[in-house]
Amino acid sequence: MKMQRRAAFALALLASPFALQAAEPVKVGFLVKQAEEPWFQDEWRFAEQAAKDKGFTLVKIGIPNGEKMMAAIDNLAAQKAVGFVICAPDVKLGVAVNRAAKRHNLKVMSVDDQLVDGAGKPIADIPHMGISGYEIGKQVGQGLLAEMKARGWKLDEVGVLRVAFDQLPTAKNRTMGAVDALKAAGVPAANVVDAPQAKTDTESAFNAANIAFTKNAKFKRWVAFGLNDEAALGAVRAAEGRGIKQDAMLAIGIGGSQTALNEFTKPTPTAFYGTVLISPKRHGYETAVAVYEWATAGKAPAPVTLTAGTLMTRQNQAELRKQMGL
Ligand code: GLA
Repeated sequence: MKMQRRAAFALALLASPFALQAAEPVKVGFLVKQAEEPWFQDEWRFAEQAAKDKGFTLVKIGIPNGEKMMAAIDNLAAQKAVGFVICAPDVKLGVAVNRAAKRHNLKVMSVDDQLVDGAGKPIADIPHMGISGYEIGKQVGQGLLAEMKARGWKLDEVGVLRVAFDQLPTAKNRTMGAVDALKAAGVPAANVVDAPQAKTDTESAFNAANIAFTKNAKFKRWVAFGLNDEAALGAVRAAEGRGIKQDAMLAIGIGGSQTALNEFTKPTPTAFYGTVLISPKRHGYETAVAVYEWATAGKAPAPVTLTAGTLMTRQNQAELRKQMGL
């Protein structure tokens, strides 16, 4: 009798739509362009934390190119995900992302790199969380200026290496913010050397910086920066290869993940002087929660959220990371 009642109850549960919902956890995708980069690993880690806290399942997929990106979105739809967070391999894929998401009825939000349409305009109906690129770039420039001053370097004698990735708007904003801060303080515009990188990793920055150093051997002292820590680090390694060491070179990155920490924990300081620490915790955790709540509770995320950064060096790294819950 008891068994029968239980069976009947189970059957009734199965027949109700709630039973189906309870059986299948809500899935939210988190797609990133460069899964091997520590920044994106950190974002994933904090998005996982959000999934645990809120009780959904996170589906992480690396999307190094447009083809893999489209396949990943189809894959999420096949798994009945409710939406996804994306840092696309190329922001110009924005229209394709938007269309695929709409076709599959998936909520989509971008992180780090804001998606644009064919005319290069941000796509307004895809909410975005990224850093305030230009402001953070200015902090990079100001950090370099303070340390140049401390070292007694003459501003007009220093070469300025801008590792550039101008096809990505946030990358251009970041590096131009740094250039503008340096120029405002009196660094001659003619000292700024652009080193365009083919990708946003250390190896591409290394190659770009090498060419720039060869062409501009007249400078005996350098400052360098790029869109992220990997870009700054590539410049540092290229300089080392040419005998330009920590006493004649200064670089400040953007990020503060493992790439920067590895440099800070080396026994002898390298020319990787610092980084502007930004928050993979906010970017990973908050975007994942936003998509989840948008899909399940109808609460749309803010159209654009821009996050801030703080200069981090060997000296303050432990304290600062602790303060930011990293
Ligand atoms: C871009 C860069 C990453 C990282 C993020 C931070 O996506 O490629 O390295 O700096 O921005 O928002």
